[in-house]
Amino acid sequence: MLGQEEKKWAEEILARIAVKMDKVAARCGHKIPYIAVDGIYDDRSDDENICWWTNGFWGGIMWQMYQLTGKSEYMEYAVEVERKLDKVLMNAQGLDHDNGFKWLPTSVANYRKTGSIESKNRAMLAANNMAGRFNPAGKFIRAWNDWGDEDHRGWAIIDCMMNLPLLYWAYEETKDPRFCQIATAHADTAMGAFVRGDGSVCHIVEFDPETGERRKSYGGQGYDHGSSWTRGQSWAVYGFVLSFMHTKKQEYLDVAKRIANYFIANLTEDNLVLLDFRQPEECQWEDSIAAAVTACGLIEIAKVSEGRDRGVYLRAAMRILKALAEHRCNWDENVDYFLEKCSVAYHNDDIEVPIVYGDYYFIEALMKLADKELFIW
Ligand code: GLY
Repeated sequence: MLGQEEKKWAEEILARIAVKMDKVAARCGHKIPYIAVDGIYDDRSDDENICWWTNGFWGGIMWQMYQLTGKSEYMEYAVEVERKLDKVLMNAQGLDHDNGFKWLPTSVANYRKTGSIESKNRAMLAANNMAGRFNPAGKFIRAWNDWGDEDHRGWAIIDCMMNLPLLYWAYEETKDPRFCQIATAHADTAMGAFVRGDGSVCHIVEFDPETGERRKSYGGQGYDHGSSWTRGQSWAVYGFVLSFMHTKKQEYLDVAKRIANYFIANLTEDNLVLLDFRQPEECQWEDSIAAAVTACGLIEIAKVSEGRDRGVYLRAAMRILKALAEHRCNWDENVDYFLEKCSVAYHNDDIEVPIVYGDYYFIEALMKLADKELFIW
């Protein structure tokens, strides 16, 4: 249980979201959205785009809305997304470490809510495939498949911390310790290979796929090598506290707090979040997704902390969420999205646009505060 004041505020914002979402879902329910252009969400459910890594989040939004309102159409839209993703389960090249992002907000959410055996089967297939990406020499989960002539056999990325809960879920369901062993081995490697002394994290680390030796890091979706891509920081804050919640290993909570402290120290004066904390000073590009994901992580850190820390992390989450609600939320019912200023990557055309998983994590954070969340991680 968090504070009553925070709960009341979150319930008010969720009530506004529910009013607008009725209209949005009537327009977009049958799509799998990613980015909105001129207020209208695109649709990634065609054969060419069905493997896209964000394709689980619309289902996740629909599940959280079903949890909030009990309206059956939300569940129907969520199940439709899950069924469409079956094509991905039959496509080896479409499966990768992001199986977590695809099947936690869809099949695991469905299984947790309804006990569907069909959904459990899908999520178990996805978890087994993800476990098969483990590199025993380097003790990391391989992130991506190869693209063209780029060799990704030794690549791990910080985002994978958010996919580990698919393995924790499989362990909790089957009691087969391999799932948990692989997840914790990866998390241990990430603590040593990605987290820097100042509490920031790098995005991509390349290992020698044969010997497991750490070769180098890359700036990835951030500004440059050695910079600090804020969404990567946010995946680490939330991902490490989730690993703590599943394993109770204290090091994971300690490192989540260290990365969170760095994140909080780098917020703007208005409690908004830049695209990269080390981008050039004259550049003001933001990423609201990083803000929303970190708020989710901070709330979970607050929930498992005692004494002064509880208030420190909860207040930081509230500052971020209030800034999003007041300055970065579009309440016009004629546009399909909520959060503005979401950014794909520093060196990318899609900077400060609406992106579906910004909305997902914003809603999830509010559901946590309101004590109503359907927990999917
Ligand atoms: N997982 C890729 C991203 O956060 O954009």
